[in-house]
Amino acid sequence: MKSIYIGLIGFGTVGAGVVKTLQMNGDIIAKRVGAEIRFKRIADLDLGRDRGVQVDRSILTTNAEEILNDPDINIVLELMGGYHPAREFILKGIENGKNIVTANKALLAKHGDEIFAAVEKKGVCIGFEASVGGGIPVIRAIKEGFAGDEILSIRGIVNGTANFILSKMSDEGRDFKAALKEAQRLGYAEADPTFDIEGHDSAHKIAILAMLAFGTEIPIDKVYMEGISRITSEDIAFARQLGYRIKLLAIAKGCGDSLDIRVHPTMVQASNPIANVNGATNAIEIHGRAVGAALLVGEGAGALPTSSAVLGDVIEIARGILCGAKNRLPARSWLRENIQKIPIRPMDEVESECYLRFKALDKPGVLSKISGILGSHNISISSVIQKERHKGSGVPVVMTTHSAVEKNIRKALEEIDKLDIIQKETFSLRLEDGK
Ligand code: NDP
Ligand code: HSE
Repeated sequence: MKSIYIGLIGFGTVGAGVVKTLQMNGDIIAKRVGAEIRFKRIADLDLGRDRGVQVDRSILTTNAEEILNDPDINIVLELMGGYHPAREFILKGIENGKNIVTANKALLAKHGDEIFAAVEKKGVCIGFEASVGGGIPVIRAIKEGFAGDEILSIRGIVNGTANFILSKMSDEGRDFKAALKEAQRLGYAEADPTFDIEGHDSAHKIAILAMLAFGTEIPIDKVYMEGISRITSEDIAFARQLGYRIKLLAIAKGCGDSLDIRVHPTMVQASNPIANVNGATNAIEIHGRAVGAALLVGEGAGALPTSSAVLGDVIEIARGILCGAKNRLPARSWLRENIQKIPIRPMDEVESECYLRFKALDKPGVLSKISGILGSHNISISSVIQKERHKGSGVPVVMTTHSAVEKNIRKALEEIDKLDIIQKETFSLRLEDGK
């Protein structure tokens, strides 16, 4: 049987997962591909650490160049993460004619335009299924399954760590920090977990999906981003009372000639399937003109789910090599000459219903002062909750609004927060409807 040789750079959580899954499923894969997929070399900085998997130690190296310069290696797996030297390794691999598989969404979001251009120029392949949605084959779905449709919007939960933390806080009353620690222990979190918590990782992923769905250059610098670190158990409880769940959503919508692209914690109606996706599970809803709404759900992080996506890419490339049909699909799903730089809609113009939590003195006239300012900015209130009564001290007052323009909400809150009855900066969340 023929062999396809692969080289792995980065023998960490995902890298070790790929080795384990290939050992587990090698026979099945060989029967599907018609060749054996074999590791020729594995590079990592620390060769002494136990990776929880047995490998022939003679293939280990600390020098990634041994992979990039090895003429036998057909496919280089970049699973080390980070920007540098991952970018340089990938570009050198491409230059040397290697096909690339990467899970590195941070790198693709920042340097993807350059990397894809290099791939297209050299005529090699790049697989990046594991960069979004862990084990969910969402990239393949957009590039193939939905290729005949016009995608109108994508929205969903694309960060396992943040969803894990919100679920633990919501369902088990766990503390934010303890839940994060557990996500790190389980191998879900990025090397810098602020990427997960503050929305960067979701922004990287939605920027990649927007590129594929809308044929745009990667708009990472324009993605509006808010994370989950300011969410309190009080907000989670109020959301429940109002019939919602709080989820960190990544959203990309076509709006005429521009794109609305953003990441923020969102109140999702409890009846929406996305609201019931918990733990490290991801859910991505793709809305197409012909297909309607399709929801892809599955494990969004972790060694084995991610290894499944990596191996799917390896197999696609191996099959292409074996049958002489490499690059069956454009790397970015659109032909290079049709990729545009689509303008991004300014956040100030976005409209949504809102949840507002004020910390106000419990005095007569408070509600009328707040609602007066909201009204003067064209914001209409749809519900109010004020439960506790602590005379003279602060109480939470929660309001939800009908759809309002972001700029008006911002201006109204600036004005309200200056009132002497307001004790703390007002906290707001957007609500997402089913459309
Ligand atoms: P890890 O930190 O567990 O693994 C990365 C490995 O790469 C480490 O063992 C590290 O070594 C090694 N490494 C760093 N620099 C070099 C270098 N110059 N040469 C060789 N090896 C190097 O990260 P993950 O496995 O979690 O993530 C890898 C990639 O996959 C990232 O891009 C991440 O965003 C992405 N990803 C991760 C998922 C997950 O669930 N963990 C899911 C989907 C994508 P050392 O630690 O010794 O420095
Ligand atoms: N840190 C990422 C997450 C890994 O938690 O979703 C998967 O991309």
